[in-house]
Amino acid sequence: MTMKTGFEDKVAVVTGAAGFIGRAIVLALAARGARAVILDRVPADQTLEAVRAQGGSGSASAVLCDVSDSAAVDRAMREIESAQGRIDILVNCAGGGQRIGFVETSDAEWFTQINSNLSGAFYTMRAVLPGMLARKSGAIVNVASISGIIGGLPSRGTQGRSGPAYGAAKAGLIGLTKWAAREFGKHGVRVNAIAPGPVLTSQVMHGYDYGVDDYPIPRMGTPEDMAEAVIFLASPASGYITGEVIKVTGGTGM
Ligand SMILES: NC(=O)c1ccc[n+]([C@@H]2O[C@H](COP(=O)([O-])OP(=O)(O)OC[C@H]3O[C@@H](n4cnc5c(N)ncnc54)[C@H](O)[C@@H]3O)[C@@H](O)[C@H]2O)c1
Repeated sequence: MTMKTGFEDKVAVVTGAAGFIGRAIVLALAARGARAVILDRVPADQTLEAVRAQGGSGSASAVLCDVSDSAAVDRAMREIESAQGRIDILVNCAGGGQRIGFVETSDAEWFTQINSNLSGAFYTMRAVLPGMLARKSGAIVNVASISGIIGGLPSRGTQGRSGPAYGAAKAGLIGLTKWAAREFGKHGVRVNAIAPGPVLTSQVMHGYDYGVDDYPIPRMGTPEDMAEAVIFLASPASGYITGEVIKVTGGTGM
């Protein structure tokens, strides 16, 4: 007998899933039978290929979209709803930061990071919520960062930490998560976040040393660690949880 996953035939939009963590989230959703739709500003061919190679009952498709463009987000979500019938799950994973100092952060850099990490999540949530509220069902998971809780995660030596725009954007994303959770819980829509610590992805491959040997769980996080936490928050298993931020950090920043 095959165990039900709770994701069979669910339509899940995942932003930023051309990247490392988003890819792991899409693979985890598709492995459980979901129909994942990727919104990214760059082609997600590697993710789509990985889902095909994985096999199983789920599927993935992709729409090119810059989430900081609200009109483009509205268009993309309307297209997805009309092609797939509905959107059950939204995971906001698009984003990223720069290690720029406070005084060195230009207006352009500030708005780029705020828009990709925070405004984009607002736009996608605003676009999918009417459908979720009408069906009285939906799960939204925002990928924030421990930087948004502790003011930037330091790495050793002269490598510094993620800059103020990133920390502010991720803190804002946590605030947005809680605001929406309070508003929409009574209408059947749950809104939660994860706050990853350092994850073994492209940024880290460039050589940052987070001193993870001193963490309670002394290793870097993996994209799969992040995906499993997202899966929990998107699944019926977390049906009585909303407005929470799960730190997926190996115990640092507790
Ligand atoms: N890697 C880490 O250590 C770490 C730690 C904490 C939080 N995070 C967060 O996890 C998420 C994924 O990070 P990752 O490590 O997989 O990075 P990544 O660079 O591999 O992936 C990020 C993806 O987001 C997309 N993206 C960025 N801005 C976009 C926009 N405006 N519109 C559409 N797509 C956009 C990029 O094209 C990319 O595919 C990010 O939000 C990041 O801030 C990462």
